[in-house]
Amino acid sequence: MAACLQSNIRLNLNNIVGGKCRSLTDQSRTPCRIRCAAASPGKKRFNIALLPGDGIGPEVISVAKNVLQQAGSLEGLEFNFQEMPIGGAALDLVGVALPEETLSAAKQSDAILLGAIGGYKWDNNEKHLRPEMALIYLRRDLKVFANLRPASVLPQLVDASTLKREVAEGVDMMIVRELTGGIYFGEPRGIKTNENGEEVGFNTEFYAAHEIDRIARVAFETARKRRGKLCSVDKANVLDASVLWRRRVTALASEYPDVELSHMYVDNAAMQLIRDPKQFDTIVTNNIFGDILSDEASMITGSIGMLPSASLGVSGPGLFEPIHGSAPDIAGQDKANPLATILSAAMLLKYGLGEEKAAKRIEDAVLDALNKGFRTGDIYSPGNKLVGCKEMGEEVLKSVDSRVTATV
Ligand code: IPM
Ligand code: MG
Repeated sequence: MAACLQSNIRLNLNNIVGGKCRSLTDQSRTPCRIRCAAASPGKKRFNIALLPGDGIGPEVISVAKNVLQQAGSLEGLEFNFQEMPIGGAALDLVGVALPEETLSAAKQSDAILLGAIGGYKWDNNEKHLRPEMALIYLRRDLKVFANLRPASVLPQLVDASTLKREVAEGVDMMIVRELTGGIYFGEPRGIKTNENGEEVGFNTEFYAAHEIDRIARVAFETARKRRGKLCSVDKANVLDASVLWRRRVTALASEYPDVELSHMYVDNAAMQLIRDPKQFDTIVTNNIFGDILSDEASMITGSIGMLPSASLGVSGPGLFEPIHGSAPDIAGQDKANPLATILSAAMLLKYGLGEEKAAKRIEDAVLDALNKGFRTGDIYSPGNKLVGCKEMGEEVLKSVDSRVTATV
């Protein structure tokens, strides 16, 4: 059981990563083997690290946890949740944004569900004491280089989009963002005083060939399972790192003859996303362009409160989080949209644990709650029922349950 569970997960990651990134001998999941051996017969057990973080993070995580637990238990899955502080919450508690204990709980888990990080209170902190750095270091230390950010316009929410119905309807894309390289991590970086006595700030956009190749492979594999179209976004007309990016992605295309590859400069991509978003199927891009374009794509879908994400590496646990921030302006008021986090829990089941049936239960329940007209403020349109974070969670939970009764 333990071995089979392990290889299931690895198979799942390898399916996505594919090619040369495979590491079948990796033993980093050994803690799971020990835990699985003690599992009750017929049940699969998983350790989930919950990192609620700041702002609306705790609210959306508590709702998503219940949904995850319920959908899992209907598929014979048992979860052992371990909640750990991160970001501003951890700064307040122990003085660092990513405590050792949090990192090691995350590393030893089977998957991590994270809420959001940051808030006004810490906005003027020095860089090493900024909550956001916890997320950057967590991604780096978990080696989750592949960030999958799906953006689809649900028929129920077409009118919540800021774009015209005919432009937004039917949009269904996947942004594959490189997550552990580029200007976020490149050296040299810093703020210093130059020879004229003036302060200068600088960062470095840096990509090694292997970093480009491995994210490109994830993207080709992803496109292959979707509509077979991959658009690589760069700034190769100006940036050297992008010239190499384009060269490597182009070279790999011959291994994926079934995928139609195109290239686009990032400024044009930002425009095309608004002009005709339906032209995109899978997009692959670097860390910073992916950060920006995924926020832009989220608005096409109606709200950034709807978009989940999965961050995966070759081995070890995946990190699953909504792409929205901590929204300190509405924190603690039960106004947040929990659906992005609930859908991140579905991605956790699908991509992190290989439990597609349980994932489908969550996705169906979200659609069901929307079909019944429940809407948080960010996706509200007249004629629907305005609910808060908790009530939306309860409605999704009811839908998870009612679908069982309907199918039994
Ligand atoms: C995201 C966020 C983060 C990022 C911040 C909070 C560090 O914007 O996940 O998109 O820039 O990656
Ligand atoms: Mg962002």
